[in-house]
Amino acid sequence: MPLKKKVAIVTGGNTGIGQAIVLELARHGANIVIDYVAHPEATEELEQKVAGLGDRCIGVDADVSKIADVEKLVGAAVAKFGRLDVMVNNAGIETRTSVLDTTEDQYDAVLNINLKSAFFGTQLAAKQMIAQGGGGRIINITSVHEDWPMPGNTAYCLSKGGMRMLTRTAGVELAPRDILVVGVGPGAVETPINTSTMDDPSKLKKLNAAIPLGRMAKPQEIASVVAFLAGDGASYLTATTIMADGGLMQSSPGL
Ligand code: BGC
Repeated sequence: MPLKKKVAIVTGGNTGIGQAIVLELARHGANIVIDYVAHPEATEELEQKVAGLGDRCIGVDADVSKIADVEKLVGAAVAKFGRLDVMVNNAGIETRTSVLDTTEDQYDAVLNINLKSAFFGTQLAAKQMIAQGGGGRIINITSVHEDWPMPGNTAYCLSKGGMRMLTRTAGVELAPRDILVVGVGPGAVETPINTSTMDDPSKLKKLNAAIPLGRMAKPQEIASVVAFLAGDGASYLTATTIMADGGLMQSSPGL
């Protein structure tokens, strides 16, 4: 149980990659806090699954695009489990709209849920880690699109590019406090965010052909990287991103 007695917050933890991260950290022994806005029943189901693994998990009604709600999550971790060791800034959405069509509401939603939540998640988690002493881990779930343009998804790329620099800059700032900040950059993962691709055989074929490993990732394959980063083996990693993309970023489809 490498994460026994560790306490982790996973934002966006009741679906997609976040859900796999919750279960993997719980399997490694951690206690978990997750937020929910719209699906309390999914959070309850997950709490039960985590409880079934012999560990504890609580869901908190919180919208991580609001600072007060991120504060509430950190407060819940401390109130229930006494501390916070690992902050996973995972919550994310995309609109798949071009730079020409993206509305102000879409822009605000993507930037606030993806980037603002990660910024203040980092800030508030770091303050708690400094107050309790002993360092900590902040893990930002970014994307290959922290670096790689995705035409037709500009606001999303902007948010992930911001998370890339959040990881690097906060990683440097917080290193003297022994708080390590690392990004995980998934490629295409079998989660609800990719339903439109998975439901369209020709789009899926094209995508798989562009991935050197020839397939999308399972959420578990991202979660296992996060569990590694939360553990003792990752003590010399900070201010960088681990790409978990099956080689996608290095491929040149069609060339
Ligand atoms: C996006 C997906 C996309 C994948 C690979 C992810 O970050 O959320 O929509 O399929 O990157 O391009």
